[in-house]
Amino acid sequence: MHELLAANALPVRGRPVSPHLPHHLGTFHSVGAIFYAEFEDNMRKPKLLDLFCCAGGAGVGYSRAGFEVYGVDIVPQKNYPFEFHQADALEYLREHGHEFDAIHASPPCQVYSKTAHLHDNPHPDLLVPTRAALIESGLPYVIENVEGAPLFSPMTLCGSEFGLRAPDVDGLPLALRRHRLFESNIWLMGAGGCQHDDTQVAGSYTAGRHRTPAHRDNPDRQGGYTPALSVRAELLGIDWKMNEHELAQAIPPAYSEFLGAQLLSSLHATPGLIPQHDLRTT
Ligand SMILES: C[S@@+](CC[C@H](N)C(=O)[O-])C[C@H]1O[C@@H](n2cnc3c(N)ncnc32)[C@H](O)[C@@H]1O
Repeated sequence: MHELLAANALPVRGRPVSPHLPHHLGTFHSVGAIFYAEFEDNMRKPKLLDLFCCAGGAGVGYSRAGFEVYGVDIVPQKNYPFEFHQADALEYLREHGHEFDAIHASPPCQVYSKTAHLHDNPHPDLLVPTRAALIESGLPYVIENVEGAPLFSPMTLCGSEFGLRAPDVDGLPLALRRHRLFESNIWLMGAGGCQHDDTQVAGSYTAGRHRTPAHRDNPDRQGGYTPALSVRAELLGIDWKMNEHELAQAIPPAYSEFLGAQLLSSLHATPGLIPQHDLRTT
């Protein structure tokens, strides 16, 4: 995992330091905010294509970072909070990729996940063709997946780096880990590494059925403890409507806000990535 590099606090025009990220990461966020301010001055936000978007865990983080977000999923997503297109992700990317400034992709992870044996239907591996199509697009991209997925030189993010915690229904503090891997064609900095402690770990799964404090406190239980829906949403940092399946799929928006700030600064630092006429005229 990459270590967090010290980020100097830079002057920020247009946006405050993120209220959603821990202070040290929120300061880092201001690097991206400078670029955001340039777009803001030109009346245009950079556009991010959110492939395999589900109900928008990743999308909301990129929006908080300063992107205008557009989602694509093969099934309807009535809880997705931005403009949504129902389509096959790879077909949409090939047809419309050139309309965007950056791309995030979360291809289905069931084929690699620890619970793969619990899924009845065979899941196609979309990761490899997704990467090929993203490279073909020539745009800066981030691919997200679970531990065990064959990503190139991935960076891991953990809920403990972002202080993702919530009280359980009986008040006991819970912590979310939800390790996720991120591959990119820009250089990504990490958030400092896991800061696991003794706090009871909870997750957001549909396969497990460990849903009461009695399950949580049972030393013989197997698998992760899955608290009530509202507690899961709070742990993930999700403050818009999501059902159980969507919560199980979502990455915490704090992760993609952190990555989105880096994507923004990368677009800024690499003039060829954004045609200058776009900055001036749209
Ligand atoms: C792991 S979820 C994405 C989670 C999302 N990034 C988030 O943070 O909330 C994967 C999604 O891929 C969608 N999907 C599966 N095959 C697809 C395809 N060929 N094209 C578009 N979406 C697809 C599924 O419907 C599912 O919503």
